Amino acid sequence: MKPRTDLVVVSGSGCTRLAMELSRHLAATFKPLVTREFPDGELYVRVPQEVRGERVALAICSGRRPNDALIEAVLAVKTLTRVGAREVILIMPYFPYARQDQEFSPGEAVSLSIVAELLEALGISALVTVDMHLHRVKSIGEVFRIKAINVSGMGELARYVSKNYGEGFTVVAPDEEARQWAEIFSKEIGADYLVLEKERKGDEDVRIRGEVSKVKKAVIVDDIISTGTTIAAAALTLREYGVEEIIAACTHGLFVAGAEAKIVSAGVKDIVATDSVANQFARVSVAVPIANALIDMSP
Ligand code: R5P
Repeated sequence: MKPRTDLVVVSGSGCTRLAMELSRHLAATFKPLVTREFPDGELYVRVPQEVRGERVALAICSGRRPNDALIEAVLAVKTLTRVGAREVILIMPYFPYARQDQEFSPGEAVSLSIVAELLEALGISALVTVDMHLHRVKSIGEVFRIKAINVSGMGELARYVSKNYGEGFTVVAPDEEARQWAEIFSKEIGADYLVLEKERKGDEDVRIRGEVSKVKKAVIVDDIISTGTTIAAAALTLREYGVEEIIAACTHGLFVAGAEAKIVSAGVKDIVATDSVANQFARVSVAVPIANALIDMSP
């Protein structure tokens, strides 16, 4: 197949499946990083040979090990540049540290800006991410000074849900922040959406309220499922209003310990996530939206 860009796709640990899918859509060469962890927890990274003079799309998948992913990105970008890559575009499908986007209490790190500055300082030419958690920040352009593209996996998730679970769903955003995902999802399947109200009291303590009427089937959509607390609380609220069938869909499935059990025991029938983070529910790929962004960006 004729390559759709001149990029070479290089993948980090935990990103092989998505990066291979991406290279397939781009008809591009795929090369994995060699990585391992030393006994003390430090990372070893070796970049592929034959990248001299090449434009490289480096895919680093963060997830439950965000700190390792960041160090992997630092070591890989600097080394790819040292061995002669002409350009490095960083693909970080799940952008870590985005939720701490302001100083909520005096002295707190504004992690989002600091991580963005760290990655920019590596000399990457552009960054591509997926459904970045942009809450108080309106657009990704406010976070980065380099070219940064935020694509969405919600269209792919919506098509998967409609194909596998049928029609008649109302799309539910568990909180105001998730309205943006519900809008994309509901537009894709031609459904209505509603937005619940979330009050977060702690990492695993949220209250969700809302008015729900005449809903029999619901798909709760969010960018991230971490502890599962948000989805479980939203599902319990929906069930109080007589919703009979509930599916949960998210872009980034972190599923920290106990999340699945919490969600299932709240009455959720099935969970669907994308492959932005490797997890047991990753049945939908975000390779196509990422590939399209890379093609658009090609010289
Ligand atoms: C935060 O506002 C995000 O959009 C998610 O709702 C949140 O990260 C989900 O976390 P958890 O699964 O721990 O409730």
